[in-house]
Amino acid sequence: MQSMKAFRSEFQPRNDDILLTSFPKTGTTWLIALCHNILSLDDDGKEEDDVLKKMNPHELAPPLDVNFLSDQVQDLLLDPGRSNSGCKIVHVARNPKDTLVSMWHFYNKILKPDGPFPVERAVESFCSGVLPWGPFYENVVGYWEESNRRPKEVLFLKYEELCRYPEEQVRKLASFMGRPFSSMEDGDAEVGKVLRYSSFNRLKELEVNKNGVWELHRLPNNTFFRKGTVGDWKSYLTPQMAERIDQLTQLKLQGTGLSL
Ligand code: A3P
Repeated sequence: MQSMKAFRSEFQPRNDDILLTSFPKTGTTWLIALCHNILSLDDDGKEEDDVLKKMNPHELAPPLDVNFLSDQVQDLLLDPGRSNSGCKIVHVARNPKDTLVSMWHFYNKILKPDGPFPVERAVESFCSGVLPWGPFYENVVGYWEESNRRPKEVLFLKYEELCRYPEEQVRKLASFMGRPFSSMEDGDAEVGKVLRYSSFNRLKELEVNKNGVWELHRLPNNTFFRKGTVGDWKSYLTPQMAERIDQLTQLKLQGTGLSL
């Protein structure tokens, strides 16, 4: 809480900062890798030089709010040019049932309780908004509305669209970041490279993500790579649970124009 309070009162972005603001388990790891690989294209590097071979994506973009007082984040913020003059924000949203199931797996793995936390209780806490990082719907609707108000500054992506239309979505992300790809063949090749280098299968199989640890949070890197698919909730939620979440989703998103 101290760190978050300090972040809220003291953080000053640079106007070329890009903040990634997604709710946990909605695709943050993927988004960081995509942004990193878009920005690294100019380096003309070989695969063996890819920093993602040595670091879990989160080490490249540590959560600023919870780590604001840590040395790592303070070092990151030491550069000049911080003036609160605005920056860009990218948000990735995900289907609520898949987000919930992903979060349930994640906390079961890292907290290692005696057996898994009952999924009924996970559903209950998701629906009541009492869960790590607060209520899901209020978070996502806030960014959705802001992206409609300020489309040049806030980009709203969806995990499912990234899975379904990866080339189109990566082009959109890169243009938003001010690094558009050419519409010619070389642009297509670059998009392909970014997607390949950021892909779930590649990252999951890297030694650093199989056996490495993210020291800042003492978390095994493999906890960020589980299945990486759409609709896995069907294996864990009963039809009644799904119905309850769907009704809540409908209620919370009513009138916003957003569907998840
Ligand atoms: P699952 O638990 O459904 O597999 P976050 O990165 O916000 O913590 O979200 C984690 C979810 O994104 C997990 O979903 C994880 O497997 C998936 N994920 C991680 N890296 C990915 C990638 N490169 N491509 C697609 N999905 C990825």
